[in-house]
Amino acid sequence: MSITVHVPLGDRAYDVRIGEGLVAQAGLEIAPFLHQPRVAVLTDETVAPLHLETLRAGLADQGISMVSLALPAGESTKGWPQFSRAVEWLLEQKIERRDVVVAFGGGVIGDLGGFAAAVLRRGVRFVQIPTTLLAQVDSSVGGKTGINSPHGKNLIGAFHQPSLVLADTTVLETLTRRDFLAGYGEVVKYGMLGDAEFFDWLEQNGPAMADGDIAARQYAVRRSVEMKADIVVRDETEQGDRALLNLGHTFCHALEASTGYSSRLLHGEGVAIGCALAFETSARLGLCSQESPSRVRAHLRDMGMKVDLADIESELPDADALLALMSQDKKVLDGKLRFIMARAIGDAFITSDVDYKVVRAVLQDALDAR
Ligand code: GLY
Repeated sequence: MSITVHVPLGDRAYDVRIGEGLVAQAGLEIAPFLHQPRVAVLTDETVAPLHLETLRAGLADQGISMVSLALPAGESTKGWPQFSRAVEWLLEQKIERRDVVVAFGGGVIGDLGGFAAAVLRRGVRFVQIPTTLLAQVDSSVGGKTGINSPHGKNLIGAFHQPSLVLADTTVLETLTRRDFLAGYGEVVKYGMLGDAEFFDWLEQNGPAMADGDIAARQYAVRRSVEMKADIVVRDETEQGDRALLNLGHTFCHALEASTGYSSRLLHGEGVAIGCALAFETSARLGLCSQESPSRVRAHLRDMGMKVDLADIESELPDADALLALMSQDKKVLDGKLRFIMARAIGDAFITSDVDYKVVRAVLQDALDAR
């Protein structure tokens, strides 16, 4: 049994299916989108040995053949060299305008595969089969696709909505605890930004979720996808409200840049630390009570997650350098950084009216505590 969350975007509308065993049923789900019984699958070298044969069998059940390319796993794949390799491979496979590309992996493969589909023959359809919690609750939904540039993360890309998303909660069982918790950073972000009841629910159920409770995992993925879909439908191309999804991300991007986008800090870990810093800044600005950042930090600690700059095991630049990295963020508008601040847990808002001196003091105190 799967749950469906519909993303009503007019002629770009699609369904996100969430449930167990969806990879094994992929043929049934994807067949209605095909003009010829074949697909091209982009995946990575971690996912392929674990799940590619299940996908192949699921497609073959419906008479669909598959060719696949497994790229190296990891953030460094998300750049021009592997992107052009993927696009040229799709052309070699004679993928036509009416064919479907399948992005089968985590956020890197989803973003790169979606962008390849966006530019191949000026745009072919694609299906996201996200295999990490982070990709299921965030990157596979909403149509942001792209790659990184030496100038920064996600600076090259396109909005290209998938035709279908299959979030198979069975595959989450093969994630390491660290990867699962990194994805949880994005889950808890939804509670913090717009649903206090969901945050309460996560405080109660988050630990069971991390320990493998399937029903809890499905509920959390569903609630996250519903919230993301709502925001994306209001603001598909991030002219306004969609920036709320970036709660914690401006701090996170500076920390990721400082740690070389390496395994020293996974994206979702940076998001969790960034959310804690965003709530601390909000409290110092008098926007929310001190209870909010304390509760955020207590929950992240309870989950065994990274919470503070002290939890990052490497040198970090000083507060001014971190602030300078934050100013490189895509959310800079007319030279002013837009911040996502909070009035309470579940009540975030976007503002450019933040005193940089307060942000600097928050960073300085967090660095001093290391
Ligand atoms: N990950 C943020 C967004 O999709 O807008």
